[in-house]
This record gives sequence, C-alpha cells and structure tokens, in this order.
Amino acid sequence: TYEKLWLVAAMVLIVGFIATITYGSVALGITMVGDQEDTIEPGELGEDERFDDPRVEQVGENEYEAYVIAQTFIFQPDPIEVPENSEVTFYVTARDVIHSFSVVGTNTNTMAIPGEISTMTVEFDEPDEYGIVCNEYCGSGHHNMEGELHVL
Ligand code: CUA
Repeated sequence: TYEKLWLVAAMVLIVGFIATITYGSVALGITMVGDQEDTIEPGELGEDERFDDPRVEQVGENEYEAYVIAQTFIFQPDPIEVPENSEVTFYVTARDVIHSFSVVGTNTNTMAIPGEISTMTVEFDEPDEYGIVCNEYCGSGHHNMEGELHVL
C-alpha cells in the first residue's frame, strides 16, 4: 500500500540523516565532550595566575589544559599546539571586551567574556591545522582577529 511506501521512505531518510551526522563527526576527527562556565570577578584576570602565561599544559597521559586569552585583536597563545589523540580542556576568557573563540570548520565555539571563564573539552584524533576566529563584533579589527590551532 501507499502507507507502507511512505513509512519506508521516512525510515530511509532518518537512516540517511544519522549516517550524515556520524560521517561528519568522524571526518572532522573532533568530538565535543562537555561545556560549562566558571566565574572570576571582573578585573580579576590579572590576578588569576592560570592566565599569567596563556599556554597549553599537560595534566594527564593524553589530557591537556589550554589557557586562552582573547583580546583586541589577537588570541594568546598563537598558535595553540596540542598533540593528536588528545583530550583538551580549553579555559577561555577575554582581557578587554567580549570576543568569541571559534575553531573554523568545527562546532568548537564559545564566547570569551571579561570576568568569566568558558570551559570546553574537545578530543583531537588526527594531526590537522585549524583557524580560530572571533564571531563577536569587537571593534575595527574584528574581522581580522584570528589565530591558529595545530594538532601535531
Ligand atoms: Cu574579537 Cu571580534
């Protein structure tokens, strides 16, 4: 009957969607693990020693923490370098005005807000080079604000 045909067509569509999504995340070699936000007092950035020296730190066999500062119109550190097959927790804040930390071609994207720390854990499976851009309008140099993320 026609009803059965529609049912089959709907199933094919759904399976197709799932396949596309699965293929998409495998092809990128990137997985989002979690998302949360910490708070620091506004103006406290200078006293928060974790951001004294924006850097990537190894905290476990395959685990890393990246302390990232966005400010007009750069990201620090630049480039951010992490090894392949690593799980990286990003701690992102802004020094001056609101920016974003957006890794081009992935769903790794967070606001960078003065006085707040955005936290995000991402797995990097394969060596690659990603661009980092700012998606929040932050002044005259906004569209030139970019950095790089290297998976080595
Ligand atoms: Cu920073 Cu736009």
